Amino acid sequence: MTLKNRKILVTGASRGIGRAIAEILIQEGATVIGIARDFSSWNEQPGRLQPLQIDLTQLDELPEQVKTIAKQHPDINGIIFNAGEGRFGSLEEFSPKQIRHLVDLNLTSQILLARELLPNIKRQKQGNLIFIGSEAALSGSRKGAVYCATKFALRGFAQSLREECSNSSIRSTIINPGMVKTSFFDNLSFEPGDAEENYILPQDVADAVLSILSARPGTCFDEINLSPLKKVIKFK
Ligand SMILES: NC(=O)c1ccc[n+]([C@@H]2O[C@H](COP(=O)([O-])OP(=O)(O)OC[C@H]3O[C@@H](n4cnc5c(N)ncnc54)[C@H](OP(=O)(O)O)[C@@H]3O)[C@@H](O)[C@H]2O)c1
Repeated sequence: MTLKNRKILVTGASRGIGRAIAEILIQEGATVIGIARDFSSWNEQPGRLQPLQIDLTQLDELPEQVKTIAKQHPDINGIIFNAGEGRFGSLEEFSPKQIRHLVDLNLTSQILLARELLPNIKRQKQGNLIFIGSEAALSGSRKGAVYCATKFALRGFAQSLREECSNSSIRSTIINPGMVKTSFFDNLSFEPGDAEENYILPQDVADAVLSILSARPGTCFDEINLSPLKKVIKFK
């Protein structure tokens, strides 16, 4: 399959799942507009990656920044809504500021981004919106109240756009991964167990993205859930 005529914006493209997605898209011929705060870990940036340093939690500035992207790249025909962060704990352990931060990053920034970029994609009468949700979008969990709330809401947003945009031939999909081996766990008190059956790899999620993009245009993957075969958690 070739993605030569695709220009796809990937949020959180600097590392982890977003980077793996950006890499596979570039490998398949797409041009990638990457959003993150720090791209320094890409030692060599391939020509078809255009990195944009944007802090998605700066919501007052975000709409104008995205308007500029839309003007410069009216041919963006896919968005991978991936940037996000995890924070876990009992609700009272969160400060109001920490709650705002998680909701702003995991949810509101993605909604604002979609709002500014959708008109151009609709005009092209072809495109994909792919949301990286989580297994936390599927069931609530102890210490997961705020994170689950952001991911449940993101899932509702993805499902609604699925209905709203199909007349413009835009396909909206949510991928819900279980534990993926990335720096997501660096500041958390737990991580996946060491055995390779206890985690999925960023490349597995990237492969799912490729399957979604290469499906027959008349077929839409609504949702993909993928999780490690075994689910052993290691506490640090
Ligand atoms: N890892 C898992 O087990 C897992 C499971 C299910 C779902 N997910 C979801 O998958 C997505 C990616 O997670 P990951 O595992 O790849 O985590 P990661 O390795 O920590 O990567 C997070 C990405 O988000 C970007 N980001 C964070 N804050 C940002 C901000 N304020 N502005 C712009 N970009 C920001 C980071 O870039 P900069 O730091 O350079 O800004 C980075 O590229 C998240 O939505 C997460 O909820 C992860």
